[in-house]
Amino acid sequence: MSRFPITRAVFDDDDLAIIQEPLRSGWVVQGPYVAEFERAFSAWTGATHAMATTSCTTALQLCMAALDVKPGDEVLVPAFTWVSTANVVEHLGATPVFVDVDLRTFNVDVEALRAAITPRTVGILPVHLFGEPAAMNDIMAIASRHGLWVVEDAACGFDSWLDDRHVGTFGTFGCFSFHPRKSITTGEGGMVTGASAEQASLIRTLRDHGASRTDLERHAQRYSFLLAEYRHAGFNYRLTDLQGALGVSQLRKARAIMAGRRQGALWYDELLRDIEWLRPPHRDPRVRHGQQSYVCLFQPEVVTLEAAERLFARRNEGMAALETMGVVTRQGTHAPPHLDYYVQRYGYRPGDFPQAYLAERCTITLPLYAGITQDDCAEVVRLLRETFEGERR
Ligand SMILES: Cc1ncc(COP(=O)(O)O)c(C=O)c1O
Repeated sequence: MSRFPITRAVFDDDDLAIIQEPLRSGWVVQGPYVAEFERAFSAWTGATHAMATTSCTTALQLCMAALDVKPGDEVLVPAFTWVSTANVVEHLGATPVFVDVDLRTFNVDVEALRAAITPRTVGILPVHLFGEPAAMNDIMAIASRHGLWVVEDAACGFDSWLDDRHVGTFGTFGCFSFHPRKSITTGEGGMVTGASAEQASLIRTLRDHGASRTDLERHAQRYSFLLAEYRHAGFNYRLTDLQGALGVSQLRKARAIMAGRRQGALWYDELLRDIEWLRPPHRDPRVRHGQQSYVCLFQPEVVTLEAAERLFARRNEGMAALETMGVVTRQGTHAPPHLDYYVQRYGYRPGDFPQAYLAERCTITLPLYAGITQDDCAEVVRLLRETFEGERR
């Protein structure tokens, strides 16, 4: 194992104990533990409803289906995000219209968002990248002016707050991920949050083949031999109760996990203060950052399209050297319009979304996890300096 992994999931004896419970009871599919996980997640975020799914991607898919996204529709998607934010729109024959990001926050650029609206636009998919909330007040105002829905991609947004409001509670829906790169994990897993009882009920039905009642409900009632009604062409995106149990246990220790991650981020902020060639994450007093990832911008010279390939090569060389020393780093994420599928389909070029392109080329994510120590952070930064400054300290 690397000395400094990019992240480290927190699993303890409580997790080991609780995931055995469904095996003991024999009820391993979506059941009481998933329901408990949903209740606890609602309590954490303040969302009125929470519906667990198999991943954030399937959570997003359910929302697109519930909102009846269809061919001809345009949905605004940031140009710097995980590709599934765009794929879920593409899958329904609609068009993901990419919008460039702000290189300071890595989130969607609000002015560019406004400019991208056309008569075909039906909704906005803002992303709270790396745990930094998107500009939701502006985005909600734009959406309301143009009659658009908003689905927040909060895959990285666990415990991310803007003006004391948890991300995922601004739009019609919010979608979260519990992949192991996230602060709390169920292996794979996701959650849809929402405020409307009607929409929540539709999500619950769609994730379960379109069934009018769950298997657990059916088994608990008379005439359990009768199948449910199926009024929608649904999916099977049900989280298992083993994962639900793990989610319950992860949430119980989430305060400690988040305190550890935030402390690590504070140490890095301090250690990087005087390093001009590496810009630490954006800080805003109105934001409580979720610290899903600690993503910096590699800027030994001015970050421009002309310099992009040179910076990319230098960055990669340094990251490769760090890897041999046991320091795992990663690019922030990718720019979907520059991925093969979207280039082939829509003919995008690097100049089309310059900030997203530069973010992809020049970001460096540092190791961050609950339990990282001040000495660990100092050692990571020492090795970073040794690598990129060529200094032996
Ligand atoms: C912004 C964003 N959206 C969506 C996803 C997809 O999440 P999942 O792996 O749970 O499907 C990710 C995963 O990293 C992500 O970062």
